Amino acid sequence: MKIIVTDMDGKSHELPAEEDWSVMEIIRDHGIPILAQCGGSCACATCHVYVDAAWQDKLPEANEEEIGMLDGAFDVQKNSRLACQIVFNSSLDGLTLTLAPGSV
Ligand code: FES
Repeated sequence: MKIIVTDMDGKSHELPAEEDWSVMEIIRDHGIPILAQCGGSCACATCHVYVDAAWQDKLPEANEEEIGMLDGAFDVQKNSRLACQIVFNSSLDGLTLTLAPGSV
């Protein structure tokens, strides 16, 4: 299984993905620069990503905590999510996203 991440230079990376890992952990553990300052506790918004339109409806909805943190993030768009709050599973194989400003 995999996720596909576009970094801030526009370069695409196909990363092997493990079930039950957060998308932020998958990105970070494969050496793609992502700030993720709070380590995944939904307290910094520096793991902000833009989810590809084709995947938006396949993700569980953001909870109030995530929505609250995104309120304070830069350049928030309709497809903005926090990567630490997306837990990978087999239904997300091929998930495609782009790192947002403020996440690197
Ligand atoms: S790593 Fe801090 S909110 Fe995701």
